[in-house]
Amino acid sequence: MARWMVIALVLAVETLPGCGADAPADAGVSPDGAPAAAFGQTIAGVELTEAELENIRQMGPLPALPPDPSNRFADDERAARLGQILFFDRRLSSNGEVSCASCHKPERGFAEEKPLANTIAPAQRHTPSVLNTAHQRWQFWDGRADSLWSQALGPIENPVEMGFTRMEAVRLISTNPALRARWVEVFGPPPDFSDNQRFPPRARPNPLDSGDPLEKAWRSMAEADRQAVNSAFANLGKAIAAYERKLVTGPAPIDLFVAAIRTGAADGLKALPAGAVRGLKLFAGKGQCFLCHTGPLFSDLEFHNLKLKPRPGMNPGDMGRHAGVQQLLNDPFNVTGPYSDSTTGPAAERLRFLKPQEEDRGQYKTPILRNVALTAPYMHGGHFATLKDVVRFYSTLNEEGTIGHRENFMQPLNFSESELDSLVAFLESLTGEPPPREWTTPPPGP
Ligand code: HEC
Ligand code: HEC
Repeated sequence: MARWMVIALVLAVETLPGCGADAPADAGVSPDGAPAAAFGQTIAGVELTEAELENIRQMGPLPALPPDPSNRFADDERAARLGQILFFDRRLSSNGEVSCASCHKPERGFAEEKPLANTIAPAQRHTPSVLNTAHQRWQFWDGRADSLWSQALGPIENPVEMGFTRMEAVRLISTNPALRARWVEVFGPPPDFSDNQRFPPRARPNPLDSGDPLEKAWRSMAEADRQAVNSAFANLGKAIAAYERKLVTGPAPIDLFVAAIRTGAADGLKALPAGAVRGLKLFAGKGQCFLCHTGPLFSDLEFHNLKLKPRPGMNPGDMGRHAGVQQLLNDPFNVTGPYSDSTTGPAAERLRFLKPQEEDRGQYKTPILRNVALTAPYMHGGHFATLKDVVRFYSTLNEEGTIGHRENFMQPLNFSESELDSLVAFLESLTGEPPPREWTTPPPGP
């Protein structure tokens, strides 16, 4: 028996490519197809094999936030308060109407109900939640940012999102007395950006279009002035990131359940209704969800291609991670760049060996599934309106997008209707305590 399990483990590891070396292997079935677990456990009438239990034990406890040495202000309380003001501040947009919270709505799990974002103009991707993003290695569906602070700079200058420029953003900070006072407390006095001769009214780099008037205005500035603007802009991102580190959720029913499995204390086993336990068995067993939705975040934090078809309004040539890698390497605000507070450490190490690969075409980041019940619709293009639609997709795999290849271990799982409902009940048990209210509401501000 012990030898069978070792063989099954080796087979499982070798036949499941693309899932990262630390994905727990499923040794649930011995070579003759009999359940390998002589020592499983029956909970709420559901038999869990030892292999499933082992996968379930990996689902908790939720670790502390990883430190972010690239942001010296990551855990600075005053930076977080300033970041909160900026997150809700509509003045950081070209029409004065769009803030981060316009799309990342606190009442929608910091995501939004639209399939594709649409503020100043229609965007081609769905708005993911900001909750718990401080746990992630890569930001955006394609991972084109490697820190929360550099991520925050993207939407401000994105012409379809906030449509602002870094020049305007840092000028707002340096000329608005209330913002400036808070800024000085954290970062010290900003340069005087009000001189319209040295600092044009609107300017940002646009390396792709040398005819863009914003790019021309940016080029007209002295190199030292451009660096001063960039450095203040990076700090603005660092304040927002410090705020986002407050947006972590607390224990969910699944955490009580997993703690009970780990410690043997029977009480927590009641935290999940029987339907959710049936869903958990599928998730940690034959559904193979845990291979990508791994560990306490229910994500391996890496990228996979499910071959979803683009929906109307999306870019049919979207290369996903493949393009994201190149953008990240070119980004002066990445963790190895001049505006990072630490160019060594695990994040920098990850970047050093990164390059676009053939197999990352059409890959998107595995979303964290905590609080997923709060953030419909789903996937990078808001493809599915409900969780049931998502699990029905995994059941049939009835989409063949044209870019790249699906992980070849994925097969249609042909779930029954009641199995689909169980999986949904399980996903609903992942909703945690919300972050403290003082952080989820707009601050009384200037
Ligand atoms: C127009 C709507 C919109 C606005 C405004 C907006 N976002 Fe987003 N946000 C999105 C979309 C869409 C994505 C995914 C884009 C992509 O992956 O290409 C995203 C991605 C993110 C992510 C990455 C999450 C993850 O799991 O990868 C974070 C963090 C985030 N936004 C924070 C912010 C902050 C901070 C601001 C304000 C400075 C902001 N957003 C403004 C729509 C918006
Ligand atoms: C091969 C890795 C992989 C496997 C296996 C997998 N997922 Fe996913 N999952 C992903 C990726 C990647 C996405 C995002 C895909 C996209 O947007 O293109 C995703 C998205 C989701 C979402 C939507 C989350 C959101 O916020 O939009 C849910 C829910 C989900 N998966 C549940 C499951 C369940 C349940 C299973 C098992 C039946 C499963 N996944 C199996 C990788 C995987």
